[in-house]
Amino acid sequence: METQGRIAVITGGASGIGRGMANAFAAAGMKLVLADLDDDRLAAAEQELTAAGTEVVTTRCDVSKLEEVEALAQTALDRFGKVHVLCNNAGIGLPTPTHNIKLEDWRWMIDVDLWGPIYGVKTFLPLIESHGEGGHLNSTASMAGLVSSPMMAAYNVAKHGVVALMATLERDLRVRKSVVRASVLCPGPINTNISRNSVQYRPSKAKPKADGAAEGKAGSAIQSMLESGMHPDDVGNLVLDAIQRDSFWVLTHPEMMKLVTRQFGPMLDDGTLTRA
Ligand SMILES: NC(=O)c1ccc[n+]([C@@H]2O[C@H](COP(=O)([O-])OP(=O)(O)OC[C@H]3O[C@@H](n4cnc5c(N)ncnc54)[C@H](O)[C@@H]3O)[C@@H](O)[C@H]2O)c1
Repeated sequence: METQGRIAVITGGASGIGRGMANAFAAAGMKLVLADLDDDRLAAAEQELTAAGTEVVTTRCDVSKLEEVEALAQTALDRFGKVHVLCNNAGIGLPTPTHNIKLEDWRWMIDVDLWGPIYGVKTFLPLIESHGEGGHLNSTASMAGLVSSPMMAAYNVAKHGVVALMATLERDLRVRKSVVRASVLCPGPINTNISRNSVQYRPSKAKPKADGAAEGKAGSAIQSMLESGMHPDDVGNLVLDAIQRDSFWVLTHPEMMKLVTRQFGPMLDDGTLTRA
């Protein structure tokens, strides 16, 4: 897909991977709509991108609310008249052992991490298809959409859902011979502040009582592990490349696919599949 002069909407665009996408798309001549919950980081992103010569509009949007995602689409149309690319990237995640996850935490993570992309696809697909110039929908899942790590049940469920959503969308678009394409980003560790940012948004009722110290420690361990992760700008470039080349899978750490083999290998080893 040609990117020069095209319009991209990025949720969670004020920091981390979303900001990396914004940088990569700006360098490729795209015009941007950045949506996020963090007004200060949105303002900083707008200032920096505008100073670098990119046309950008920023807007507050909670992706877990359909009406706010619809308002985001309207903002993009009012400013630029059309949309070519949507990146459903906003997300949160915190570790808790499955037996301790409160229903408020389940709802929060599924609402943001899964309903957010569902609302995005539902709202933006017709807009992106309507102008006939081609376009692309990308959603940020995770390696947690392919393998199920401990203490991350709600996040894993949401991210598996995002992979399924985008894989199905990609096939449905091809069957309909649509000029629009879809892809899914499954990052491994990326150097962002996701754990710290997620704590800020977590519903107060979801905060753990039992084992809270252990969960806090696990969260800090994840955050320090991410500090040695890939730079978000490199992830943005991978997504840009997928959009330009129409590739579906965007993997930042392909070597981590061995975790998928390790999780599903026993299905093959115990003969279940060869007997079927
Ligand atoms: N950092 C990693 O290692 C990693 C790995 C795999 C997947 N991911 C995924 O990447 C995406 C981006 O995360 P990141 O690591 O850049 O973290 P980040 O915290 O830097 O970025 C996420 C952004 O989403 C925003 N946000 C949170 N809730 C929101 C809501 N309800 N509506 C709108 N915006 C909201 C935050 O304010 C933040 O700016 C997420 O979907 C995350 O699950 C991250």
